[in-house]
Amino acid sequence: MRVLTPLLALASAAVAIFPTKLLYQSPTGLFIENIAVRPNSKLLLTSVVSPTLHTFDPTIVNSTFDEVVTFPNATGLTGIAEYRRDVYAVVASILDVEALSEKPGSVVIWSVDLTSGVPKIRAAACFPATITPVLVNGLTAVPGNPDIVLAAESSLGGVYEINLRTGTIRRKFQDVLMGPTPPTPLGINGLHVHNGFLYFTNSVRGALYRIPLRGGTIETLGDVSNFGGIGAALYDDFAIDSEGRVWVALNTGALQLFHRARNGTWVQETVVGDPAGSPVLVGPTSGAFGREGPGGRRTQSLYVTSSSGQLVAVDTSHRIQ
Ligand SMILES: *[C@@H]1O[C@H](CO)[C@@H](O)[C@H](O)[C@H]1NC(C)=O
Ligand SMILES: *[C@@H]1O[C@H](CO)[C@@H](O)[C@H](O)[C@H]1NC(C)=O
Ligand SMILES: *[C@@H]1O[C@H](CO)[C@@H](O)[C@H](O)[C@H]1NC(C)=O
Repeated sequence: MRVLTPLLALASAAVAIFPTKLLYQSPTGLFIENIAVRPNSKLLLTSVVSPTLHTFDPTIVNSTFDEVVTFPNATGLTGIAEYRRDVYAVVASILDVEALSEKPGSVVIWSVDLTSGVPKIRAAACFPATITPVLVNGLTAVPGNPDIVLAAESSLGGVYEINLRTGTIRRKFQDVLMGPTPPTPLGINGLHVHNGFLYFTNSVRGALYRIPLRGGTIETLGDVSNFGGIGAALYDDFAIDSEGRVWVALNTGALQLFHRARNGTWVQETVVGDPAGSPVLVGPTSGAFGREGPGGRRTQSLYVTSSSGQLVAVDTSHRIQ
């Protein structure tokens, strides 16, 4: 999630290296925080200002946001991850968006099973009230481990392993590079497992990192120093494509693409919008690739959510510049 700062003046030189399409603009400007894509192509969307999990069908014209389920004793939702086929973990809490904190003891990781016609929900784990301040933020599934999700805790800076079958929660990683820097309590934010690595962003440090899932040294893949500086909450959640490229939402108004050059170094470029602000992406927060067909295989459409209520599709299959 992002820091609520006044939006920067819109830059005139908005970039679009990949084609984009505005799929939806929430009429109330609903703050969309995170996204998962179901095997049947439909999107699941969380909002930090609503306890309702919404769905949106990107395959039909003029689709709307519809309720899947509303969680009790919560004001907002953060991370979502598909941990078994069409079964999702969702973080619900009593959330203070301006203070960037959740009420200790209110953070529940729900399991949402959509494999039958009727959503089945279960409070799978409760985050310990002793961890305070607390902001359980991004979530990721762990391929090959169908009971487990990993959660980013942004305010102290750690990664927690949550067993959705037993309800057990344990800290897996803690590092200064996962922690925030004062005064903004927003360190590690998005996280995803890919090919044995845990990739994660740290918002106030403005950087993307990865660490081997089994533990080891944290590698810095890039930061925002060449893209508008460091100091505000910037890098939010992201998606990793089949080639291992990382598409990161930059809150100020851009999508940043990280990829490995032939010489092995990671390079970063702005591929949609502008780090100085852009009407194409106003407050982007996260992204996920589309799915289609009977197997629900991934497409090259990247759906980007935003804190201004935009849902934007980016066609990553070909460059237009
Ligand atoms: C979608 O909405 C637009 C604008 O309200 C309208 O002009 C158009 O006819 C709608 N299309 C469909 C297929 O409903
Ligand atoms: C909501 O919170 C109240 C008060 O703590 C509690 O009694 C109730 O069981 C909770 N409801 C659910 C569905 O967890
Ligand atoms: C590696 O390649 C990238 C992209 O071509 C370039 O920007 C960078 O300077 C190179 N690094 C080294 C150490 O040669």
